[in-house]
Amino acid sequence: MEFNADELRAYFLTRIIGRRIEYYEELESTNTEALRLALENAPEGTVVIADAQSEGRGRLDRIWESPPSLNLYLSVVLRPDIPAASASLIPLAVGVTVAEVISKYCPGKVQLKWPNDVLFDGRKICGILTEMRTKADRVHFIIVGIGVNINMRKLDFPRAIRETATSLRIETECEIDRLDVAIRLFENLERWYRIFLSGGEAAIREKWLQYADIVGKRIEVVFGKTIQRGTVTGLDDSGALLLEGETGVQQVLAGDVYIERL
Ligand code: BTN
Repeated sequence: MEFNADELRAYFLTRIIGRRIEYYEELESTNTEALRLALENAPEGTVVIADAQSEGRGRLDRIWESPPSLNLYLSVVLRPDIPAASASLIPLAVGVTVAEVISKYCPGKVQLKWPNDVLFDGRKICGILTEMRTKADRVHFIIVGIGVNINMRKLDFPRAIRETATSLRIETECEIDRLDVAIRLFENLERWYRIFLSGGEAAIREKWLQYADIVGKRIEVVFGKTIQRGTVTGLDDSGALLLEGETGVQQVLAGDVYIERL
C-alpha cells in the first residue's frame, strides 16, 4: 500500500503535531534523524516517518525490528517550555495516546506496561522511545519515537520474539492502512499533548493506570542486575511506579516489569 505523505501534510497544516512531515523510504532510525533536525531548529511538531529503519532503536539499547512496507516508524519533535524535571509524564501520555488508537482497531485487550509498552492480549504491539535534550535545566526538545507493528504476520517476526510480539493485522485478521493509523496517532497525540501543556497531569496518570490495570498486583522490576519486588500502589507525580515492599514504598525509575509468578 502506497504511503502518501502529501495527503498527510495537507491534513495537519493547522496543528502542532505534523506541522512539518519528513518522509523517507529508509533511515537508520527516525529518532536519530528527528534529533538531527531538532538540533537544526526544526519546529515543534515536526514528524519524521520512515518506511523502513536499518538500525531501529528500542529502550535499554535494544533493537527495534523495522522491515519495509509493513509498520509505522515515526518520531515527533516536541518543545514544551517547561523545566526538564516536569517532562517525565510525557512518555506516559504518549503511551495513553497509542493505547487509545490501538483500542479503536481491536478493543478490549489493550494494556500499558510501565513505562510505555503497549500490549495486546499480553503481546507487544507498540514500543515508545523518548529522548530529551535539556538547556540549563529546561527542556530544549524531546523526541518521541513510536513504532507500531501494523501489518506484520507471525512469520515476519524473528523467531526470538514471535511469541511475545503481535501486530494489528494478526489481531484483526485484516490488512490495515498505515496512513489511517498515522492520522489517528497524530490527532490523539495532539489531544494528549495539549492536555499535558494545560496542567492535565492527573488525567494522564488516571488514564494510564486504567490501561495498565496494575495497582494491587505484585510485580518484579528487572534493571540490569537489580531486581525490585513489591505491590504496585500507583504512580507518583513524576510518573514513577510506586512499589510497596518489605522496606516501605520505593520508586521504580527504570527497568522491565513482570507480574510476579506466585
Ligand atoms: C521499545 O519498546 O523498546 C521502544 C521502541 C521504539 C521504536 C521506535 S520506531 C520509531 C523510532 N525510531 C527508533 O529508532 N525507535 C523508535
